[in-house]
Amino acid sequence: MGRVCCEVMAPAKINLGLQVIGRRPDGYHDILTTFVAINLYDHLIFTRRIAGGVSLEAVNPDRDRGGTQGFPIGEDNLIMRAVRLVERETELHADLLISVRKQIPIAAGLGGGSSDAAATLLGLKHLYDLPVSERKLADWAGRLGSDVPFFLNSWAAEGRGRGEKLRPIRLFRDWWVLMVTPRIFLSAKDVYEGLDLTYGAGAADFSGCRDRGSFLAALRRAHNDLESVVIRRIPEVQQWRDRLRKIGAENVFVSGSGPTAFGVFLNRPTEGAVQLLRKAGMLSQVIMARPVDTPTALVVL
Ligand code: C5P
Repeated sequence: MGRVCCEVMAPAKINLGLQVIGRRPDGYHDILTTFVAINLYDHLIFTRRIAGGVSLEAVNPDRDRGGTQGFPIGEDNLIMRAVRLVERETELHADLLISVRKQIPIAAGLGGGSSDAAATLLGLKHLYDLPVSERKLADWAGRLGSDVPFFLNSWAAEGRGRGEKLRPIRLFRDWWVLMVTPRIFLSAKDVYEGLDLTYGAGAADFSGCRDRGSFLAALRRAHNDLESVVIRRIPEVQQWRDRLRKIGAENVFVSGSGPTAFGVFLNRPTEGAVQLLRKAGMLSQVIMARPVDTPTALVVL
């Protein structure tokens, strides 16, 4: 039973600060961060078919945004891993075409792969009417990646543990992000391992920040501990930070383990300022977005 087709919109996320608390015996790091989902989306369309197993295709008319370069369509893609996990856990055999319009830059610290994985869990649940509890879904999400559970949760949340222990927060929402993603690959593992754990600035607490004043105060205190490692690996990130500040960002961060740098603006950056950034970074992607106000991965069809 279930449906023939469904579309899921998978948003990107940014981290408003990230504190690395310590290394764990399993090789991961305990962190404290604030995740916020933003209105930059990958679109995933799931279409059931009679036979043929599961195929994944990238359809990207807009090359300026995510492009499809570096987007793997094999079994190691998190979308495929999510399908295989659901198949194993539910004894489902899926015959499906999954078409992805990628807009979130790949391996950028913006959670694109994680969001696609969460969208896939929700898409399959919807498509096949799977009787899966929220708790089980969150457990599967955590097995797919540290950031995946956030995308099943609320639009803003405090993340602890590997990032999978979440507490939704209410947050002031009237701001913009301007992101710059250098087209240089950076592995999350490498960034975490490059961190000097004797240093830790502490993440700001955004949990009570529902008005502009308290949000701004927390924003000014926030810091991403991974930033120094990202800048050591990709020095141009420092220049992006400076440029974003110059055009009026209240604060500037690296998102997750990078390499995306973003500024938070209380007033919308002018088109002129955005164009200047684009000109300065012909080899980078420059994208403006806002926090979303809906739950994360969104089933629209
Ligand atoms: O969970 P995920 O597969 O996204 O993590 C990618 C890599 O980033 C991990 O293999 C680990 O090296 C590092 N990581 C970490 N601590 C975290 C999240 C990720 O060390 N909290």
